[in-house]
Amino acid sequence: MHFLLSISFFLPLFVTLVGANTNGIDERDIMEEMEHIMVDNGGTNSDGFVAAITPCSNYVGFASNATIRGEQTSAQWVRIVFHDFVTANLAAGTGGLDASVAFESNRAENAGLFINDTIQFMAPTISAYLSMADNLALGIVVSVTTCGGSDTGIPLRAGRIDATEAGPAGVPEPTTDLNTALAQFAAAGFNQSDTIGVTACGHSLGRIHYFNFPTIVDESFVTDTNLDGGEGFDTIPDVFDSSVVHEYLNSTGQLGGPLVTAPNVTDRSDLRLYISDKNATMQAISEEAAFQKTCYSLFERMINTVPSTVTLSDPVTHLTWKAVDVALDINSTGSVSISGLIRHLYTTETPPSTVSYTTGSSTGNSTVQLSTTVNGTGTSLYGNTTYWAFNSSINSPGTTTLNFETVSYPVNDEIFVLPTQSSVNTTDKSFVISAAALTSLASSDGMAAILYVPTTISGTVSKQVQNVTMVMTKYATAGDYTLYSGSVTAATAASVVVKVVMGSASSRTVKSKLFVGGI
Ligand code: HEM
Ligand SMILES: *[C@@H]1O[C@H](CO)[C@@H](O)[C@H](O)[C@H]1NC(C)=O
Ligand SMILES: *[C@@H]1O[C@H](CO)[C@@H](O)[C@H](O)[C@H]1NC(C)=O
Ligand SMILES: *[C@@H]1O[C@H](CO)[C@@H](O)[C@H](O)[C@H]1NC(C)=O
Ligand SMILES: *[C@@H]1O[C@H](CO)[C@@H](O)[C@H](O)[C@H]1NC(C)=O
Ligand SMILES: *[C@@H]1O[C@H](CO)[C@@H](O)[C@H](O)[C@H]1NC(C)=O
Ligand SMILES: *[C@@H]1O[C@H](CO)[C@@H](O)[C@H](O)[C@H]1NC(C)=O
Ligand SMILES: *[C@@H]1O[C@H](CO)[C@@H](O)[C@H](O)[C@H]1NC(C)=O
Ligand SMILES: *[C@@H]1O[C@H](CO)[C@@H](O)[C@H](O)[C@H]1NC(C)=O
Ligand SMILES: *[C@@H]1O[C@H](CO)[C@@H](O)[C@H](O)[C@H]1NC(C)=O
Ligand SMILES: *[C@@H]1O[C@H](CO)[C@@H](O)[C@H](O)[C@H]1NC(C)=O
Ligand SMILES: *[C@@H]1O[C@H](CO)[C@@H](O)[C@H](O)[C@H]1NC(C)=O
Ligand SMILES: *[C@@H]1O[C@H](CO)[C@@H](O)[C@H](O)[C@H]1NC(C)=O
Repeated sequence: MHFLLSISFFLPLFVTLVGANTNGIDERDIMEEMEHIMVDNGGTNSDGFVAAITPCSNYVGFASNATIRGEQTSAQWVRIVFHDFVTANLAAGTGGLDASVAFESNRAENAGLFINDTIQFMAPTISAYLSMADNLALGIVVSVTTCGGSDTGIPLRAGRIDATEAGPAGVPEPTTDLNTALAQFAAAGFNQSDTIGVTACGHSLGRIHYFNFPTIVDESFVTDTNLDGGEGFDTIPDVFDSSVVHEYLNSTGQLGGPLVTAPNVTDRSDLRLYISDKNATMQAISEEAAFQKTCYSLFERMINTVPSTVTLSDPVTHLTWKAVDVALDINSTGSVSISGLIRHLYTTETPPSTVSYTTGSSTGNSTVQLSTTVNGTGTSLYGNTTYWAFNSSINSPGTTTLNFETVSYPVNDEIFVLPTQSSVNTTDKSFVISAAALTSLASSDGMAAILYVPTTISGTVSKQVQNVTMVMTKYATAGDYTLYSGSVTAATAASVVVKVVMGSASSRTVKSKLFVGGI
């Protein structure tokens, strides 16, 4: 999409052309990482994110006796988005989906296991590419999908930035009076009918727990297989559908749930909301199609409510063809090679046995190269995946693209990390990093590696990406290139992203899991 660097052979003038980015990370890499976590659900290259909410009734929390607690991860992932988003102040351009909720788990308005359960589960997918707030947005989208909603209903954008401390309080509680609750939502940009709709949409999933709200749920709900005493808002709390609305309007099943029927009228916050427009909104969303459409739109607005300083990407859609883990290498005579995996996502057709690709430069494309035969397969919410590996030498310097099927990726063969010649020791978290740069690029600034390290911080089970700069020294030359290396110890060895920089030149980023010993 964007070339990080373009070179003129006559003037040593290097122009960095970077699109919208966060902290020196290419936006396309951010979008493709989010796509990966969303799409690669099983098999080769899979990530366990979606498995946590498959089936929709699943619970992966960290409390003891997890399977019999009466908790549901998909519901937690929907609720946490609400609690993070609703304290936004649209007028001031602050708050919204910024993961400040990760610092707010001890507030009474955030009662329950959901915050630390969710944040702790998602912490491993925090990286330079994906913030916790982006993880939260992804979480509600895939929850809706696995609980029976559409798999493309809510456009999902990337690029949220995490808060570094708690935000203001102000999440409505069961005892909050109607006007206060409506004012809290209004500050976040939701009017009365939006508020009624989004609350009914949220309360399509999950339960209210005796353990958190003993005045609302009867103790009799606590059993050997429901230790927290969860009582559903509707009779099918693991299906994202309009039954909570039907049961309310028809006085059947759960009658709209415990926040409609609570013994103490003060606790009937859902009833106060639903009747505040004489049931007009509830009636308007009682048909299943209208319910789904309205909920997608409202959920999209929640996840796109971000601080005014944040620019979100275009929607992240599942990709039919993509390249994964692209890396360059160099041998002692200076020949550069490119390797990685090609992923195909499909629903019906039989994948080909090999995929052809070219690498491109200003003088045209290389001769056609062939991938290996099928290197792995996976399963996805969106179809099945097939992987092929590729590895071939490229014309260097001067190669700028990798092309196959319908896609083209930028290549920077002027300055690059050498993953197979880099290593990480996961015991003592030490990194040895090698990289190559055109000798003609040499700058008095010297070569440095930037490691983006998801680091534990106090007061939350979330992490914050900190960058660590490591000075590199020359150790060899290879053809047109000079090779550099250095070592450093980081706070963690997992999910680290690395790039190298020299003067104004900057490499593409790579995941340190591609390093020898990397995770
Ligand atoms: C005035 C507004 C709201 C109030 C007072 C409210 C209150 C509550 C309460 C007391 C619980 C029980 C938590 C527990 O015991 O674990 C709950 C659960 C839940 N809420 Fe709300 N809520 C409101 C709006 C929303 C909205 C807007 C959403 C999402 C769009 C939402 C999503 C959920 C979900 C999914 C659960 C189930 C959580 C689980 O099973 O762990 N709520 N809500
Ligand atoms: C590293 O982090 C600092 C502080 O957050 C930031 O100002 C700087 O731009 C970052 N450097 C790079 C190369 O990303
Ligand atoms: C509330 O906002 C929605 C969406 O922006 C709009 O369609 C609706 O007319 C508004 N309702 C009221 C009562 O202002
Ligand atoms: C787990 O549940 C069983 C059965 O309810 C109970 O006896 C046991 O004390 C629980 N263990 C913990 C650590 O909560
Ligand atoms: C319940 O209510 C909905 C909408 O109000 C209606 O379409 C449906 O037929 C009713 N179902 C039952 C079982 O009464
Ligand atoms: C709204 O619906 C509830 C539940 O069916 C019903 O009890 C109530 O009378 C209705 N209120 C209005 C104003 O229609
Ligand atoms: C109902 O709840 C309110 C607010 O929590 C409390 O002040 C009141 O005493 C409760 N009423 C009863 C009958 O328990
Ligand atoms: C480096 O790679 C090139 C191209 O594959 C090859 O011709 C050359 O023999 C290699 N040199 C060494 C020392 O391996
Ligand atoms: C996708 O994978 C599943 C599980 O491996 C398999 O049952 C199914 O037939 C595959 N679908 C296609 C279209 O290949
Ligand atoms: C190189 O190949 C890609 C994809 O096959 C194509 O889009 C592009 O136009 C080609 N470029 C040149 C210079 O031939
Ligand atoms: C996939 O490709 C990698 C790299 O070429 C290779 O190490 C691995 O053995 C291959 N796996 C399969 C299943 O073909
Ligand atoms: C990793 O570091 C530990 C602790 O310093 C050391 O004992 C171990 O030998 C190292 N592993 C490798 C493969 O170097
Ligand atoms: C969540 O984790 C943080 C950080 O460990 C801790 O300070 C906080 O008390 C936890 N919250 C709950 C409700 O357990």
